[in-house]
Amino acid sequence: MKLMIDRGELISTEADVVLIGLFEGEENSNESMTALNENLNQGLNPLVADGEISGRSGRSVLIHSLGLLESKRVFFIGLGHREEYKAVALKNTIGNTAREINKMNCESVSVDVASFTSVDIDENVAAELIAQSLIAGLYSYDRFKTEKTTVALKNVLFHGAMVENEDIFRGEKIGSALNVARNMANDPPNYLTPTKMGEIAAEIAEGIPKMECKLLNRDEMASLGMGSFLGVAQGSIEPPKLVVMNYEGNPADKKNKVALIGKGITFDSGGLDIKSAAGMRTMKGDMAGGATVIAALKAIGELGLRLNVLGIVAATENMPGGGAQRPGDVVVAMNGKTIEIDNTDAEGRLVLADALTYALSQGAHKIVDVATLTGAVHVALGDKCVGAFGNDSEFTRLVIDSGFEVGERIWEMPTYPEYKDQLKSDVADIKNAGGSGAGATTGALFIGEFAGDSQWVHLDIAAVSKSSATKGFTVKGATGSGMITLISLCDKLASNSE
Ligand code: BES
Ligand code: ZN
Ligand code: ZN
Repeated sequence: MKLMIDRGELISTEADVVLIGLFEGEENSNESMTALNENLNQGLNPLVADGEISGRSGRSVLIHSLGLLESKRVFFIGLGHREEYKAVALKNTIGNTAREINKMNCESVSVDVASFTSVDIDENVAAELIAQSLIAGLYSYDRFKTEKTTVALKNVLFHGAMVENEDIFRGEKIGSALNVARNMANDPPNYLTPTKMGEIAAEIAEGIPKMECKLLNRDEMASLGMGSFLGVAQGSIEPPKLVVMNYEGNPADKKNKVALIGKGITFDSGGLDIKSAAGMRTMKGDMAGGATVIAALKAIGELGLRLNVLGIVAATENMPGGGAQRPGDVVVAMNGKTIEIDNTDAEGRLVLADALTYALSQGAHKIVDVATLTGAVHVALGDKCVGAFGNDSEFTRLVIDSGFEVGERIWEMPTYPEYKDQLKSDVADIKNAGGSGAGATTGALFIGEFAGDSQWVHLDIAAVSKSSATKGFTVKGATGSGMITLISLCDKLASNSE
């Protein structure tokens, strides 16, 4: 798909379809509509009067220009009330629209960017989010289909006086990276092994200046004392990998380093505390946090953000093989803490524990981990937002706000120290499961024990990493949740450090 700016008059744009956003109650004052209406011999007036062309949210109307305009069609898209129109709504609107115009076999589209701006969204942000959402909305996973999907849409013209090439470039890079994350989490577990995840990360790093990728194997991790991570890996014959992507976007400020850490369980059987068949069915996606981190590093590197970012993925299977760890085992983590294995299915926190210690050893002072960590976060929040847990309210707020601005909803959850009582062990420093009640918080607090003095935020994406339906920005299957927030956060941190 080719994305370009069009500085000409909307009336003379030549495309298979023109997209115009329409706010509720503003149908008679929409400038673009007024301009087109003149060439359409005021033919739109009765349609507006009858309410057929309306700014109501979810309402869209296609008009054929029948030779009266340079473009073949105009698509009026209802956006609801201007004051309520936020990034999340814009992205859903464009995702839906992308699939609709693609179904009509439109090869070229011209977008009236200004008509999608609102209180929170200027033309630059709108253009970026539109580019991102067209790419994300048209995603489909066909790696193992003999018949591949084709996308009709080839050219997108961004019509707007303020739109910059940079906006479109960013949207394109972020949208494409999101689809890379989705691909990984949709990949079957016999294909996307820890080794494969490492190869994908290495290949990405190869193409990006200032980025290096290191893959630590079982022996190297053992020499670092990663007993917590390796305890999980020992039940599987697939070799585990600690994927380390180091991006030095601001080498002059070496001390300033943020770590993005992803849970990369390429299949979670539960281990000896084995899951039910239904519970195991979706567990190829238990590496979604890792995919999010790898894809975020790709976009951060391609955008050339001026920030040092360490991307780490703790990649392994969690299997019940003959060598598997047992409930009751005690393992020693890289930072020396002893952990009693209360439940082998609470493996994400175990691999993340050592990944956090490793990040600290590499000089990270800010850490965000992204993980499909608990079923409990779904009980708490459903599938409409991500749960956030942190040890520094200002940093947690920054992460949440970074997500909000780009259309990802994140809700802060409590991390009161009293919850840690649930993780007390009779035989070790800590145990890995906190019993009933506040399961998402006790999982987070376990990870927090390994955050040292860093500012740390944990994002539990277990409830949102996968969707059962195609709707708006979301396509059925892996969602790539969290990636856009990580990029937005790094963007903010980069501009703060300048
Ligand atoms: N990978 C699961 C969490 C999960 C559940 C992700 C459903 C996506 C959908 C995680 O490893 C797990 O099994 N967690 C346990 C923790 C418990 C044993 C303390 C859980 O949530 O039940
Ligand atoms: Zn598990
Ligand atoms: Zn898991």
